[in-house]
Amino acid sequence: MMLFLKKYFNLKLVFLTLLQIVVLVFVFSFFFLSIGANFPQAILGAVIVFLLFYLLFRLLMLPFFIFPQIKGAVYVPSSDERIKDMLELAQLKKNDVACDIGSGDGRVVIELAKHCKEAHGVELNPVLVQRSEKNIKAANLEKKAKIFWKSFWDTDLSEYDVITVYGINYIMKNLEKKLEQDLKPGARVISNYFVFPNWKPVKKKNDVYLYVMK
Ligand SMILES: C[S@@+](CC[C@H](N)C(=O)[O-])C[C@H]1O[C@@H](n2cnc3c(N)ncnc32)[C@H](O)[C@@H]1O
Repeated sequence: MMLFLKKYFNLKLVFLTLLQIVVLVFVFSFFFLSIGANFPQAILGAVIVFLLFYLLFRLLMLPFFIFPQIKGAVYVPSSDERIKDMLELAQLKKNDVACDIGSGDGRVVIELAKHCKEAHGVELNPVLVQRSEKNIKAANLEKKAKIFWKSFWDTDLSEYDVITVYGINYIMKNLEKKLEQDLKPGARVISNYFVFPNWKPVKKKNDVYLYVMK
C-alpha cells in the first residue's frame, strides 16, 4: 500500500495537503461553535463550508486550464516511461541548460535538473506553476530548477542547449519556426509524441523524437 502511494504520489505533499484540510476544518468548526452550534453541527458546517470554498476555487481556476489549450496544449503529464526516453535521447551534459516548454507540474524539469547544470520550465497555468515549485522544493532542487509563469511563445529560448516539449499537433508548425529563430546550431529538441512537420528526427525512441538544430 505504502509502495503504491509512494509510486504515484509525493507523500510529503499529500501529508501537507491533508494537514491544510484539517486546519481549515478546525478553523471553520471554531467559528460555528462560537456562534452557538453544537459539536456535530459545527463539524458538518465546517465540512460544507470547506467544500464550497474548494468548489469556488476550482471554478475560478478553470480559465487557467482552458486558456493554455488555445495557446498550446492542454495539461497531460508525460509518463515516467516517456520521461526516461526523453532523457536518454537528450544525452544531457554537465554544462547543459535545458528548458521544458509547457512544463506542467514540473516533473520533466525535475528530471532534467538532476542531469544538467540548470533546468527551467515555462508554464502558462499558475496552478501548475505553484505545484511545480512545491515539487521542486520537495526534490531539493531549488538551486538547479526554476519555473517561469509565462507563455513559451513570448520566451527567448536562445540560451538553451536542450528543449523538451509535449505539445499538440496544431502548434508544431509555428513552434518549428520559433525554435529555428531562437535556438543555436547544435541545440537538441526532444518532442514527446508530436512531430515537427518539416524537420527530420535524428533519433526516435517509442514515441519520443530527437531533433538537432542545423
Ligand atoms: C501536455 S502538457 C505537458 C506537461 C509537461 N511538459 C509534461 O511533459 O509532463 C502541456 C502543458 O503546456 C502548458 N501550456 C500550453 N500552452 C502554453 C504556452 N503558450 N506557454 C506555456 N505553457 C503552455 C499547459 O498548461 C500544459 O501544462
